[in-house]
Amino acid sequence: MIDLHCHMLPEIDDGARSYDEAVEMAKNAEKNRINTVIATPHFADFDDVDEFIIERNEKTVLLNKILNNFNIGVSVGCGAEVYLKSDVFTAGNLDGLTLNGSRYMLCEYSLQPFDIEKAVIYAEEICGRGYIPIIAHPERYISFYRHPEVVNELWDMGCRFQVNVAGLAGIGGEQMQDFAKNLILRGFVDFLATDAHSVRGRDNRILSKIDDFPREIDDYRIKYLTEEAPQKVVRNEEFANRDVGYF
Ligand SMILES: [Fe+2]
Repeated sequence: MIDLHCHMLPEIDDGARSYDEAVEMAKNAEKNRINTVIATPHFADFDDVDEFIIERNEKTVLLNKILNNFNIGVSVGCGAEVYLKSDVFTAGNLDGLTLNGSRYMLCEYSLQPFDIEKAVIYAEEICGRGYIPIIAHPERYISFYRHPEVVNELWDMGCRFQVNVAGLAGIGGEQMQDFAKNLILRGFVDFLATDAHSVRGRDNRILSKIDDFPREIDDYRIKYLTEEAPQKVVRNEEFANRDVGYF
């Protein structure tokens, strides 16, 4: 499997607190049949894009070396989880923030209620710059529950969606799980990822959580969401058009 959303790099955000913890997370990934992790540290300071990229790249290179030395069968690619806000309009070049050098950019919104019209125009700006936004964990946004039609709008402009394993497993409660399931069954979702931040707690032990997925999410779909579709991102391939069940 490929984990497109993971806070595995140490001491760059609220994810892994040390290289030791990053290595433990990588071991968990390997045990859970994840062989590729795209490290997606939180990014919100649009004035310091270059500094962020330099630090992230150095940490990614070093972590891969350490994993290699320990014979851990996980490779780590570069990404970011880009917090969408008005700064996107004045930001410089954002090419270094995409997932594994592709056109795909993992984007997040506030977990607090937000103005959905603004959410749409921020995503439009990202699309206008030639990137394909992947909206991280739509099941976590209160504003999406209240106005699910925003998902239609984002989809129509070319955004893709990534649901968290924990949300689909019910760890965030029934409402979150139902919304995650609904988004998947309507066809809006291409990716399931761990959004892991640590070894325990918000972890990346995906296999045990799959047992708690709603029964409608079958093995065929899990394979698409964790292997086939993320592979397209890693290879910077396009997705074919498909029909979705609009809200
Ligand atoms: Fe995240």
